[in-house]
Amino acid sequence: MDLFEYQARDLFEKHGVPVLGGVVAEDPATAKAAAQQLGTPVVVVKAQVKTGGRGKAGGVKIAKSPEEAEAKAAEILGMDIKGHTVHRVMIAAGADIAEEYYFSLLLDRANRNYLAMCSVEGGVEIEQLAVERPEALARVAVDPNVGIDEAKAKEIVEAARFDAETGAKVAPVLQKLWDVYREEDATLVEVNPLVKTGAGDIVALDGKVTLDENAEFRHEDHAALVDAKDEDPLEAKAKALDLNYVKLDGEVGIIGNGAGLVMSTLDVVAYAGEEHGVKPANFLDIGGGASAEVMANGLSVILGDEQVRAVFVNVFGGITACDAVANGIVGALEKLGESENKPLVVRLDGNNVEEGRAILEKANHPLVTLADTMDGGAAQVAALAANGK
Ligand SMILES: Nc1ncnc2c1ncn2[C@@H]1O[C@H](COP(=O)(O)OP(=O)(O)OP(=O)(O)O)[C@@H](O)[C@H]1O
Ligand SMILES: [Mg+2]
Repeated sequence: MDLFEYQARDLFEKHGVPVLGGVVAEDPATAKAAAQQLGTPVVVVKAQVKTGGRGKAGGVKIAKSPEEAEAKAAEILGMDIKGHTVHRVMIAAGADIAEEYYFSLLLDRANRNYLAMCSVEGGVEIEQLAVERPEALARVAVDPNVGIDEAKAKEIVEAARFDAETGAKVAPVLQKLWDVYREEDATLVEVNPLVKTGAGDIVALDGKVTLDENAEFRHEDHAALVDAKDEDPLEAKAKALDLNYVKLDGEVGIIGNGAGLVMSTLDVVAYAGEEHGVKPANFLDIGGGASAEVMANGLSVILGDEQVRAVFVNVFGGITACDAVANGIVGALEKLGESENKPLVVRLDGNNVEEGRAILEKANHPLVTLADTMDGGAAQVAALAANGK
């Protein structure tokens, strides 16, 4: 889960990373009040969207009075930044910036390790710097069992070529950022810019944090960080029903049991769909126990997606045999009732396949077509989805 900047700021503060005051506002009047509350001569009005390059897109603006903050907030709220609508701004205390640095800590999957990146040349051009002068961006491996201790922090600031005095001030901040990374179970903590102020203090002026959702069970407080406005409603519904669901862009809804089978179903549907100009609409794994209820839940999520024109149910009966799955489908269609009108192609194989097929044949539901093979089913569903377009 990616966090908004204001949420990252709060986590930084909680772990002792130096930050400036920041208050969230959803409307210009609140933005004005926030600027008054902060009381600094200069504030910065910052779009809160989960994408980079806000500054360049006009989503970060300086205001020299609460009235100006109100006006700037009015300009930024509702703005579209790379497909993200701005619903909130953060009013941040204005910093007197002497220098801008870059720091990030992330999961380095390829090397099965953590990686710290740091540069004395931070700021909005960091992507360009990484491409044009990669040597100016220090990369230091961080052992997950040790983390950023004093020695590692020193190694990082030296590799980034900080002068000794600044390096000595930056190093403890890096240790605190490690605390955020480790204690919050993050997979990314990025600060750009980390700044030195005119008074010589080190402050994190912008923060990007990604939390590891697999560690959610350790962090009850992280649930509050989920933004309802930002979540796909169907993904939220699936999550609440404990289904593994990912929304994609196409027209063919896909339900299978087991991630491997669902992934290969996506492949065959994508392939069959090329001819018809249709693509998979989602990934939905109902897992081992495909009961009527689980099947009904899965179908209701998929059918709730307006883009879906036809659904492919591809199940390999194992512990849950095909007859149970077939009963699940029949029960699900009963439960969904008349309102349902999108065609379903069902392919069953494995344990009790004959019984399963017999149940579906007997039910003889007008929306259900039985397929013999996975490829055949994919071709049928692609054609049906194309028809429904
Ligand atoms: N509180 C602040 N006080 C003064 N200047 C700021 C403040 N926050 C940001 N800035 C200036 O604005 C620039 C851009 O801000 P920020 O890094 O938050 O956005 P961004 O980098 O454009 O967005 P993103 O990180 O999403 O790409 C900073 O490099 C800094 O120069
Ligand atoms: Mg930034």
